[in-house]
Amino acid sequence: MISGGVPLNGEVRIAGAKNAVLKQMAAAVLTDEPVVLRNVPRISDVTILAEVMGDIGFELRGSGEEGNGHTLEIRAGDAPWPFVPLEAARKMRASFILLGPMLARFGRVILPNPGGDRIGRRPVNFHVAAMEALGASIVYRNGYYYASVPSSRLRGGHIRFPDVSVMGTENAILAATLAEGTTVIENAALEPEVDDLIALLGAMGARIARTADRRIEIEGVDRLGGAEHTVIGDRLEAETFAIAAATTGGDVTLRGVDPVHLGAFLEVSSRAGVVHETDAHAVRIVGSASRPLVAVDVATAPYPGFATDFQAPLTVLLTQAEGTSTIHETIFEDRLDHARELARMGAAIEVLDERRARITGPTPLHGAEVGIADLRAGATLILAGLVARGTTVVSGVEHVDRGYELIEAKLVALGARISRIEA
Ligand code: UD1
Repeated sequence: MISGGVPLNGEVRIAGAKNAVLKQMAAAVLTDEPVVLRNVPRISDVTILAEVMGDIGFELRGSGEEGNGHTLEIRAGDAPWPFVPLEAARKMRASFILLGPMLARFGRVILPNPGGDRIGRRPVNFHVAAMEALGASIVYRNGYYYASVPSSRLRGGHIRFPDVSVMGTENAILAATLAEGTTVIENAALEPEVDDLIALLGAMGARIARTADRRIEIEGVDRLGGAEHTVIGDRLEAETFAIAAATTGGDVTLRGVDPVHLGAFLEVSSRAGVVHETDAHAVRIVGSASRPLVAVDVATAPYPGFATDFQAPLTVLLTQAEGTSTIHETIFEDRLDHARELARMGAAIEVLDERRARITGPTPLHGAEVGIADLRAGATLILAGLVARGTTVVSGVEHVDRGYELIEAKLVALGARISRIEA
């Protein structure tokens, strides 16, 4: 429940990146030595993947009493039960990231067709083709992928992704680290989370290099060892708090995030009139000093472009901007569901087709009962509630907990009037 209209002020510590840590947990499968991850966000996606990995037979230990610290130690001894249940994959599509490392280390795994956020078709054909290029055999039966390595070990191969795929690239890298020979990946993703995975794998002894634009070469090694690694800050959480500051006319410093990773967002928000300052590990958003917000046209793109995950939260800013903005979602179809709920709060949003929306502003938003079963769209509704006059009730916040650590506590610390209530 949110009482909107309060400017947010102060500092917020950005958590470790969800889209980095999940792949790093999977990387721990590649060695029987301990992998220690620091700056691990306390989000439910981490809990779900930890449960899945525990059920396979790996040891996972969180730091702090009752596991409430930010360090995670993983030891992947043996995999007596190399299976991911459908229930887990429904909750989190990213569980599919276990495909590559399980094949590389144990030569087999059974994984369901993943679910995750309901944002259009979410196929995994790129992942399957990549594993096949490395010599794996994958059979799809009754909703499950039965993956195995017919020879004793994956072998290096040539992989060219038809479209840029973040997890596809990561699955291919993970699998290739222990393959025999060299693997070349073309049209690889450039997201910072991919590079953070490469950094951890390098510390584990993997030989991975970006040899040209969107090209990665991996020289397989016989074994990998343990390592310690600190997860990068979450640029998507940072963007959410940046928009909260800008739209409420506040002044918020985001710590623990690399401003370079927010480059595309900062470029767009500057064009929209939002004032910011950066140093090496922080970004200050000065909503109060911002010029009147103005409309912008934005198209999502793979990194270094404007991230699809930035798109829904940005819409809230655009409802407060003078003029007509357009959003073109080029990565996923059906990622404009939040438009309907924002319209119920007074936004002038027209969904033109599956991938395009037009927003006319500024429109004052008013409180309403809204809800949506999606991570970024859920965060978007919270942002709208922070700007709106009156009281907003957002249902389905468990979807937001998938990727945001204690979002309401962090907002309260900045002055927001928000509390978690039982439905
Ligand atoms: C990751 C992020 C997600 C982000 C997305 C795009 C994680 C856990 N999630 O998802 O937050 O929104 O990148 O930046 O890191 N595609 C196929 N076949 C495949 C795989 C993908 O056609 O096998 C298509 C998708 O439908 C989509 C595009 O490729 O149109 C990009 O998707 P991809 O980069 O793979 O997204 P994820 O890695 O799943």
